[in-house]
Order: sequence, then C-alpha cells, then structure tokens
Amino acid sequence: TGAYTYDSGFSNTAAGFSNITYIDGANGTLRMRGYNLHDLVKHCSFREVAYLMVHGTLPSKNELDLFSKYLTEHSLVHEDMHHFFAGFPSDSHPMAILASMVTSLSSFYPDLNQEDSNFDITAARLISKVRTIAAFSYKKSKGQPIVYPRYDLYYCENFLHMMFGSPVRKYEIDPLHTKILDKLLILHIDHGQNCSTSAVKLIGSARANLYAAISAGICALWGPLHGGANQAVIEMFKCIRKDNNDIQKYINMAKDKSNPFRLMGFGHAVYKNYDPRARLAKELLDELFQKRNITDPLLDTARRLEDAALKDPYFQERKLYPNIDFYSGILYRAIGIPTNMLTVMFALGRLPGWIAQWKEFCDNKGRIYRPRQIYTGPGERPFVPIDQR
Ligand code: CMC
Repeated sequence: TGAYTYDSGFSNTAAGFSNITYIDGANGTLRMRGYNLHDLVKHCSFREVAYLMVHGTLPSKNELDLFSKYLTEHSLVHEDMHHFFAGFPSDSHPMAILASMVTSLSSFYPDLNQEDSNFDITAARLISKVRTIAAFSYKKSKGQPIVYPRYDLYYCENFLHMMFGSPVRKYEIDPLHTKILDKLLILHIDHGQNCSTSAVKLIGSARANLYAAISAGICALWGPLHGGANQAVIEMFKCIRKDNNDIQKYINMAKDKSNPFRLMGFGHAVYKNYDPRARLAKELLDELFQKRNITDPLLDTARRLEDAALKDPYFQERKLYPNIDFYSGILYRAIGIPTNMLTVMFALGRLPGWIAQWKEFCDNKGRIYRPRQIYTGPGERPFVPIDQR
C-alpha cells in the first residue's frame, strides 16, 4: 500500500530525540554534549570524554579519579571466560571474538543493567572489560600468552601493555603512543545515529540487555561501509602499492558505475564536507611521524590518492571527502596495531557512545523500533496443494 513514506536508509527520518551529539554535515561540525570535538581532542583524555558521554558533563578532578579507579578495578574478566578464547580458531577475526565475548559477558555479569543505582560503575566495568577482551583476542590470534591488566596503569597504557607486553618481559610504553591512542579513541567516541548506534538502540528498544545491544553494535560496525572501512582502507593502500602505485587506476575504478569498487575511506552519509575527525587524525599523524621520525610508504599512497580524488570532478560534484577511516589506520599501524585489529579499535572508541545512547534511550522509555515497509509482492493468490504444484 502507499500508506507510508519511502525513506531509503532512513536518511531523512528522525527516530527520536538525543542530546548527545550534534553534527552539521554541510559545514563539517561535530560537537559532543555541546563541546567541539577539536577542543575535546586537544584538552581531554579518553577517560574524560567517556565520562562526558555517559554522564553528560565533564568530570571534576575527583569524579575523574573515581571513574579511572573503576576502569582499573574492573579490568579483569572472569577466569572461566579464558576457555572461550581457546575455542576460537587462531585465524578468527578479532571482531567475531569481540562480539561473541561481549554477549557472553551477560552470563558472567548479569547484574549489569540500566537499573543499576550506580551507572558509573556499570559503564566503567563494560568499557574496561571490553578493552581487556580486545587485547586478549589479539594475544590469542598470535598464539601468545595473555597479559593481565595492571592496576597502576591508566586505560590506554594498560591496553598497550596487554597488547604488546609479555609475562617474561616488561614492555616500555612510549608516552607518545599512549597519547595518540587516547586521542584516536576520542575521535571515534560517538557519531549520532550511525548504523552501529542505531543497531544498539534497535536491540535496546526490545528491552534486550546492554551486552546484547553492544554486541549488535559491534557486528554492525564490522561492515566495510561502516567501521570495517578502516581495515579495508589499509588493504586498499597495500593493493595500490603492489599495483605500481597506480593511483589513477583506482580513481577510475571508483568512478566506474559498472564496478562495485568504492574508494574506501572516502564519502560519508552525513558529511558533505571534510570530515572533522579526518582532519584531526591528519594532525595527529603529522605529530607522531615528525616526533618519532618515522615513515610509512602507505602514507605517501594515501596523500597522493586524496589529492587526486579531491581534484576529480566526480568526487567534487558528489562532495566526497576523506572520512575518519582514511588516515586512522596508518596512525594505528604506526603504534603497532595490526590491520585486523583496526575495527576493534574503532569499537573500543565507540563504546562509551553506544552506552550513552542506550542509556538515553532507556531513560526516555523509547518505543520499540518498528519501521514500516512498502509491500511490493504479489496480491492474494489461490492456494495450490503440494501434489498439484
Ligand atoms: N567511492 C566512489 N563513489 C562513491 C563513494 C566512494 N567511496 N562514496 C559515495 N560514492 C558515490 C555513490 O556511488 C553515489 O554516486 P551516484 O550519485 O552516481 O549514484 C554518490 O557518491 C552518493 O553516494 P551514496 O551511496 O548515496 O552515499 P551514502 O550516504 O549512501 O553512503 C558511504 C555513504 C560512507 C557508505 C559511502 O560514501 C561509502 O561507501 N564510502 C566508502 C566506505 C567508507 O569509507 N565507509 C566509512 C564511513 S566513515 C566511518 C563511519 O562512521 O562509519
């Protein structure tokens, strides 16, 4: 029937109200809880912005200390969960492990829900444990012993310690790596009603538990048109380099409507201008590469590809610019994060945003998500018994 308005991808339908993130896609503006992303990245730690997401206000010194303490104290996962890691094939994608393990958290920590009198602890526990699971899944993929979190390290340092440390050797954490990781995670922290956040809210709208909702968000994020683009970008850069660094060939492929190939890390459903997150990622890239005097051949390919695309009328007319995923993978590579962990990093960053959006939805007692459809199948047909078909 024609009773409903068709809105492909819900790009013109607001499913609710939110006071978390403001995006002006035409001008490339992004604010969280009223604060400009630029200011948050320049002045805050990931812990502070995670608190901002969950509580709606920036923490005082005491509030941040308490939140950090919770993040540290809740970093271990139940010992029995270690068996699960052993059950995955060693070449499992870490996103598959992460999604499964987050769902299984509901069996081990069933008391985590929005009715908690102290949502601070609920949020911190989840943020902390997901980070531990992410690092453990990497260790599992390398066939290395897991490294337990340390109580004397803050969130990002602890992650680097669990990723690159070993039970027999102390890992010297580069403070600049910690800083870059901290800032990168802020860049991912929330982005309005994107695909994975909508998945979290959709599942939450059925009043499913927080873990189930977050697990759905992780699965949605994995898709290459969404967070999975950061892995696809690095794979594309490598492919171009192997192909004589023939940038123009890939630009032409992306423009060819008979070819499903898209320039990964380019274009955005909301931004019709330069993604402010990509601009900040580029600044971090310059800082890290200059201070540590490092190079990466993929960066040269990325810069040339960006230049060529931005000069091309196809990309100009459609207002296609680099998005967050175009440069973030090169930064993660520079601090040692392997390609198949890139989308996991996005998930770690996005987690406080998902939690905040889930909580806001629950607090507002949002209705169950139930989009309508326009039926295009056959009209009523006479039934034919099986022996006459
Ligand atoms: N390469 C080539 N053409 C593109 C691209 C691209 N990366 N992105 C969009 N287009 C074209 C598209 O073919 C369409 O052309 P036409 O009007 O001739 O049919 C036009 O631009 C508009 O595109 P769209 O598909 O209507 O845009 P969308 O809003 O539905 O999709 C997108 C947004 C991000 C899925 C898309 O730009 C894309 O596939 N980009 C590559 C994947 C990517 O980098 N994803 C990460 C997004 S940022 C991280 C996050 O928050 O998820």
